[in-house]
Amino acid sequence: MSALIKVKGLTRIFDVSKPWLNRVIERLPKALLTAVSDVSFEVEENSVYALVGESGSGKSTIGKIVVGLVPPSQGSVMINDVDLATETDAAKVEAVRADIQMIFQDPYASLNPRWRVREIIAEPVAAKGGNTTGLAERLLEQVGLSAADAVKYPHEFSGGQRQRICIARALASEPKVIVCDEPTSALDVSVQAQVLNLMSDLREEFGLTYLFISHDLTVVQHMADRIGVLYLGRLVEEAPRDILFEDPKHPYTRMLFDAAPRMDGFGREVDPPKGEIPDAINPPKGCAFHPRCPIAVERCSRERPEMRDVRGARVACHLAE
Ligand SMILES: Nc1ncnc2c1ncn2[C@@H]1O[C@H](COP(=O)(O)OP(=O)(O)OP(=O)(O)O)[C@@H](O)[C@H]1O
Ligand code: SF4
Ligand SMILES: [Mg+2]
Repeated sequence: MSALIKVKGLTRIFDVSKPWLNRVIERLPKALLTAVSDVSFEVEENSVYALVGESGSGKSTIGKIVVGLVPPSQGSVMINDVDLATETDAAKVEAVRADIQMIFQDPYASLNPRWRVREIIAEPVAAKGGNTTGLAERLLEQVGLSAADAVKYPHEFSGGQRQRICIARALASEPKVIVCDEPTSALDVSVQAQVLNLMSDLREEFGLTYLFISHDLTVVQHMADRIGVLYLGRLVEEAPRDILFEDPKHPYTRMLFDAAPRMDGFGREVDPPKGEIPDAINPPKGCAFHPRCPIAVERCSRERPEMRDVRGARVACHLAE
């Protein structure tokens, strides 16, 4: 079976230079930030692929490239064998855009406060001249709210309910793929679990494919079929969920597991992640993780490790056996 999403050699560089005049006066070079570097992975239809990594590792950038909000600097994303960045057939582009939706972290910022929930949910369909009769009411019930909520405004809901509204809107155009960028990070732990369960149920019901972005491995533990771990814009490990959880091979993946929220007797978090995330404009040479790596050897600061197959996973580490 061919994959529904194929990401190949994806790279995105942002120009973060000061304005031209400042650069000339201060004799500064251009500053380029590589947010995503040579990332490749595939997502099978009706599966959940999770991208995990710390803040700034490039997760949202990859999500935005996949839905076509940001163009890649190099590499490609194929959805249903169509590349949104280069496809010239407008009908094909339109079809793929309708097939893919995105849900963001902040459910309030992504809802228009002046619109009623009915308009918000039906908008993607109304914009294309589709039939919206009863659509919002039906979708509200599907996401665990009530049809009567259609006449309310976003501020009348809790955070978890608002994220349900965002999910209902994403479902309105009957997409095949949903890119979920930290959809539950702004929610309380108990509400998080409810929204994640809802998303799992909807995947079954509608045969959806998710690209699920999170900084937290424990959030994706129950949902993901496959997990990619990002560090400073690069994939460092990629494996089916069970293999990653039972046998994490990259020192950074192991560090993420150690840093996963664990409480001590007083409800405080223990084991914060060790070391600073380096500057993405001047990433460390060789393996970008070497300044933080507990097992780094001399070679690590010279030579960047290539991705290779190790015991059912793909790993970029010189010492992974
Ligand atoms: N439009 C932009 N212009 C300049 N730099 C950007 C832009 N978008 C992202 N970046 C930079 O690219 C890097 C990756 O950002 P991105 O938002 O993809 O990270 P992330 O993994 O989603 O982080 P977080 O967990 O904080 O959301 C960061 O260093 C960020 O500052
Ligand atoms: S390549 Fe070296 S520095 Fe990088 S993760 Fe492996 S051991 Fe650590
Ligand atoms: Mg992000």
